[in-house]
Amino acid sequence: MLVFAKIKSVQQKIKSLKKGTSIGFVPTMGALHKGHLSLIERAKKENDIVVVSIFVNPTQFDKKEDLINYPKTIDKDLSLLKSVYCDLVFAPSSSEIYANNIKSENFEFDGLEFQMEGKFRDGHFDGVGTIVKRLFEIVKPHKAYFGEKDFQQLQIIRSLVKNYKIPVKIVPCEIYREDDGLAMSSRNARLTIEHRLAAPFIYKTLKKVKLKFGTENALDIVKWVENEFKKDPLLELEYFEIAEEETLQTIKNNNPKRKYRAFIAVFAGKIRLIDNISL
Ligand code: PAF
Repeated sequence: MLVFAKIKSVQQKIKSLKKGTSIGFVPTMGALHKGHLSLIERAKKENDIVVVSIFVNPTQFDKKEDLINYPKTIDKDLSLLKSVYCDLVFAPSSSEIYANNIKSENFEFDGLEFQMEGKFRDGHFDGVGTIVKRLFEIVKPHKAYFGEKDFQQLQIIRSLVKNYKIPVKIVPCEIYREDDGLAMSSRNARLTIEHRLAAPFIYKTLKKVKLKFGTENALDIVKWVENEFKKDPLLELEYFEIAEEETLQTIKNNNPKRKYRAFIAVFAGKIRLIDNISL
């Protein structure tokens, strides 16, 4: 496994690959878990080589504290990547990516950016768009893999690729869960023991929503979820929405031709967790 920190050297390596070599790309912010490894394993099956980037992107954090506390476990990450036979790792410094100008570009993502996470995390998607576009320019992958846990991010990246005509196929990957249903996330490592025990309630509630959807009115389901979370002092609901998958607009009336998902953001103590379920 080759590890590069410099843009020029990773680009040189990629340029030197035999013509026709297909490149699968998994962008990450490190603190890797089984969910990431499942994306890498899928990318291995579908491509000749797999490139993984590890970069904790400062411009997508709306809170400085969150950026400082984001887990950084590079040595462990590299040994995990070796264990799944990753071919190439790109782990640049912040100055390599942004030089002295740690700033996002401004994007329009077909209105997707104004929904859910966009309402609560100022500038987050401009930061994601900036880094993902930059990484795509550097790595030039044929396919790039994104987990559906960050479903809004996935749709934003699809919009980015479409609007900028970037020649990469975006591959969505199902949410990888712990045995008790908690969606895997690098943030889970920062949960206290009691919040970790409380957190599976999020997915349990989403599964009940799935059962209710179709027989109960969406507004009633929203109210039901809000009440469920009021009962648990360890979990604070930030938002719960049932939205259309393509536009991420809140459901108005259930159109059987459209696909819907329920989306949720919850604070477990200081840690913000998100999840979603297809309905
Ligand atoms: O999902 C993530 O880990 C990040 O948002 C990404 C896509 C690597 C961009 O920094």
